[in-house]
Amino acid sequence: KQALNIVKMKKMKADGERLSMLTAYDYPSALLAEEAGIELILVGDSLGNVVLGYDTTLPVTIDDMVYHTRSVTRGAQNTFIVADMPFMTYHGSIDETLRGVRRLMQEGRAQAVKMEGGLEICETVAAVVAAGVPVLGHIGLTPQSVNMIGGYRIQGKDVKDAKRLMDEAKALEAAGAFAVVLELVTEEVAQAISEALSIPTIGIGAGRYCDGQVLVFHDLLRYASPYREKRFVKTYADVGNVIREGISQYVQEVKDRSFPDEGHVFKADETVLESLYGG
Ligand code: KIV
Ligand code: NA
Repeated sequence: KQALNIVKMKKMKADGERLSMLTAYDYPSALLAEEAGIELILVGDSLGNVVLGYDTTLPVTIDDMVYHTRSVTRGAQNTFIVADMPFMTYHGSIDETLRGVRRLMQEGRAQAVKMEGGLEICETVAAVVAAGVPVLGHIGLTPQSVNMIGGYRIQGKDVKDAKRLMDEAKALEAAGAFAVVLELVTEEVAQAISEALSIPTIGIGAGRYCDGQVLVFHDLLRYASPYREKRFVKTYADVGNVIREGISQYVQEVKDRSFPDEGHVFKADETVLESLYGG
């Protein structure tokens, strides 16, 4: 299988071909995603929530992202891999931003980076693109700004908001972004943005008309406990339950001595037995 690239992605949009993207955070999840045919993997800073157990993505550091990105790129060597720039790592100087980008690309071995934001980050996006690094934009609900937004709410519900989102998407395309994630955006606004751009839109909770879709690994597979229902998520397998049942059966069998049984043990020969018991 040949990995996707940003030139092919744009052509796929022109041809009306949808893009499938999934998050992954470690070697096994990346390997499974690639085997299943996922075209783009996002090492999302959502790992703060689903892997590290924080209640927001704000505590995630560039070290966390490098560590997880490196394990994902080892697991999915033929898949296009995008790594999130974490909170507050791309709002200072361009030099500081490029240092973080360099680590994700060179140590993490990603093929691209993602940044949340609109007009205020366009100059930064252009500088990163100029350094030869593809940038995925991300607008709509941007979880790193949860304290400004005041919660995880749907974007693009009124005229002013819709116009702002459209302006941000166009500005990101002009700045050189290769695609834009639309998170929790009303379907009509996401559709209009998708039609207005020549680069792909990748939706999460943004309706049916985006050029691609992205979901969080743990949501798609119900790989969390406790599990929170989200309207925009479709769960395709209940992996959390399979894991819980497997572990609980193991506990039972250790307790009742049915594990290990004779099929799981290593035997010495009789002379060893004799020597041990003075036979
Ligand atoms: O971190 C993440 O998983 C994301 C997606 C929800 C787009 O940014
Ligand atoms: Na993210």
